[in-house]
Amino acid sequence: MRILGIESSCDETAASVVEDGSRILSNVISSQIEIHSRYGGVVPEVASRQHMLSIVPVIQQALSDAKVGFKDIDAIAVTKGPGLAGSLLVGVNTAKAIALAQNLPLIGVNHMEGHIYANWLTGQKIEFPVICLIVSGGHSDLILMRGHGQYELLGRTRDDAAGEAFDKAARILGLGYPGGPLIQKAAESGKPILQLPHSWIKGTNDFSFSGIKTALLRMAEYGKIAMDENAPAGLPSKNDAAASFQKVVVDVLVTKCIALALELGVKQIMVAGGVAANKALRAGLLEKSPLPVIIPPFILCTDNAAMIAACAYYRYQNGQKDGWEMDALPALRLA
Ligand SMILES: Nc1ncnc2c1ncn2[C@@H]1O[C@H](COP(=O)(O)OP(=O)(O)OP(=O)(O)O)[C@@H](O)[C@H]1O
Ligand SMILES: [Mg+2]
Repeated sequence: MRILGIESSCDETAASVVEDGSRILSNVISSQIEIHSRYGGVVPEVASRQHMLSIVPVIQQALSDAKVGFKDIDAIAVTKGPGLAGSLLVGVNTAKAIALAQNLPLIGVNHMEGHIYANWLTGQKIEFPVICLIVSGGHSDLILMRGHGQYELLGRTRDDAAGEAFDKAARILGLGYPGGPLIQKAAESGKPILQLPHSWIKGTNDFSFSGIKTALLRMAEYGKIAMDENAPAGLPSKNDAAASFQKVVVDVLVTKCIALALELGVKQIMVAGGVAANKALRAGLLEKSPLPVIIPPFILCTDNAAMIAACAYYRYQNGQKDGWEMDALPALRLA
């Protein structure tokens, strides 16, 4: 079964053809990062207009890369939420138009569920029950999955999401946007010598990252980090600050995720979302977890449409098919 997936929830316009929920025939991603970076974050109105310009060429490219036409496609999948309302609407309405014109089933997918299903594109065998750590621009969740489509939310962030914290830390250090990859790069040339607080929130599976970010901000404001070339000699560099921030966030994510997985006796740990692209997080989990850890390749961690098509395959197998009344749901929840 070949599914054309469409994703437009934030600042990536993406389309992909996936066979049987596991084999990627094409994966086209048009990023708007350059357009938004001058504002230091995603501007929703700009994003939706850009999706309108990109969506048709991106879908055409996905079909052509997969060497298929609409006649070879069996269903259309699209992200229906959560995300930016205007951005979601572009994908949802394009998907409806194609499904109607080509007489194909329409399957709406939760974007976060899509991130989880990137793990099914790794070719690794996934055994339930599994703990999934979702770490993205808007979420830091610990989810227990007992089967396809079954989600139990066991922990979440109480304030900033992990990706949001990376983005804010990068802004504090003047590194640019999006912050995750820039903090990672700076951290490679730094040492984790700054004393930043670990927020464990003991006795719960929840996370909190805003205190770590504020501690970094205060250190920058109080002259404890060499923010420019005029800073007194001997201060920790921005690279040291990035390394310290990354270490604290990764420590907390790795420790709490593994502790929960062991407590519940699950078979595996899966990781999903843009922050799963972080090399220190990947290495930390793989090194410290006694359980098998599955992490999608970098390109499937950040927003893409292959994960949406993969998720739709399992939804369709379970009988899901959406009607024309399906709407964009900006605040859609997984569990
Ligand atoms: N190498 C990296 N290290 C740390 N963070 C990263 C890395 N690469 C990307 N990120 C972060 O991942 C986030 C983007 O991930 P993603 O695209 O999954 O989020 P989103 O779609 O904006 O949010 P959500 O999926 O919650 O709606 C950004 O915050 C970015 O800084
Ligand atoms: Mg995302």
